[in-house]
Amino acid sequence: MSVYILGIESSCDDTAASVLSDTTILSNVIASQKVHSEFGGVVPELASRAHQQNIIPVIDTALKHAKINKNQLSAIAYTNGPGLLGSLLVGSSFAKAMAYSLEIPIIEVDHLQAHVLANFLSKPGEKKKVPEFPFLCLTVSGGHTQLLKVNDYFEMEYLGGTIDDAAGEAFDKAAKILGLSYPGGPIIDKLAKEGNSKKFHFSIANLPDYNFSFSGLKTSFLYFIRDNLKTNSNFIQENLADLAASIQYAIIKSLTNKMAAVIKNYSCRDIVLAGGVSANSGLREAMQLLAKNEKRNLYLPSIDLTTDNAAMIAVCGYYKFMNGNFSTLNATPYSSVQQHQE
Ligand code: KG4
Ligand code: ZN
Repeated sequence: MSVYILGIESSCDDTAASVLSDTTILSNVIASQKVHSEFGGVVPELASRAHQQNIIPVIDTALKHAKINKNQLSAIAYTNGPGLLGSLLVGSSFAKAMAYSLEIPIIEVDHLQAHVLANFLSKPGEKKKVPEFPFLCLTVSGGHTQLLKVNDYFEMEYLGGTIDDAAGEAFDKAAKILGLSYPGGPIIDKLAKEGNSKKFHFSIANLPDYNFSFSGLKTSFLYFIRDNLKTNSNFIQENLADLAASIQYAIIKSLTNKMAAVIKNYSCRDIVLAGGVSANSGLREAMQLLAKNEKRNLYLPSIDLTTDNAAMIAVCGYYKFMNGNFSTLNATPYSSVQQHQE
């Protein structure tokens, strides 16, 4: 008999709900909050309010699309962190109340583990090949950049990560400097397709081990644009696609350099990308090339499952459900990875 899990995601600026039958997506509904674009980033207070407005219609729609009655649900999985505390409280409180009233288990999910396990989701009728443990995973999102050795569904070894900005933040900040709206990653990706990535050179940090740094790149990009605007006020407009392609090239190079270094030292056959930035077409291509040269198998989440969604929360919930790993009603959300470990 199938297990039906309702997943709820509300860690940042997307209110999302999804219903799975085992690991197959029956519905995947996302209400993205447009309210933040004019501020150039997510405003936490506004995010919490928008979650409060969206959560009931989004869950209702997810159940309707899945053609599942709430009484058929086996359990409810929700994001417990990391993320914005006010946003997490909306999703977690709703999930607890709903599970309590339906008398079904509640399952807390870590948002970062969920991005990784998005690679285990399938769509109806799809026979999807999934990565084999242990595999190497690069998680690149707006809040995190991590290199992991994934030994099992919930045994993820941290090999390295960013010491300052996340890769998605680097895309978003570069976009903001260019006067583009938020989130800037997808806009840069689109512009970069028409541009010359070798036109401008931006040097990347080369930290020891498997660590990344993007704040220096952002500052050098900012100064470069500022200096050129002094002599040509149309510098951005005249070079927009080339600037987008060049900064994207630098970010991707930084990511692939470290992935190449990890691959050299670990014999895992499968390598995996996860997180919002894994939607980037340049990064996907560069990783495909790297995997081919190193004779590894590359797994990429389908584009709609790269950025925040609730199907990835539900699939984590599914594997926890199968292990009988349930939570209690007094679990509290955590805003950062560090807070979770304390
Ligand atoms: O995983 P995600 O939805 O949220 C977090 O958990 O942070 O990632 C959002 C990030 C944003 O920084 C956004 O600009 C970036 O992913 N992003 C992209 C692309 N699509 C989303 N960055 C580069 N190219 C893309 N196509
Ligand atoms: Zn995310």
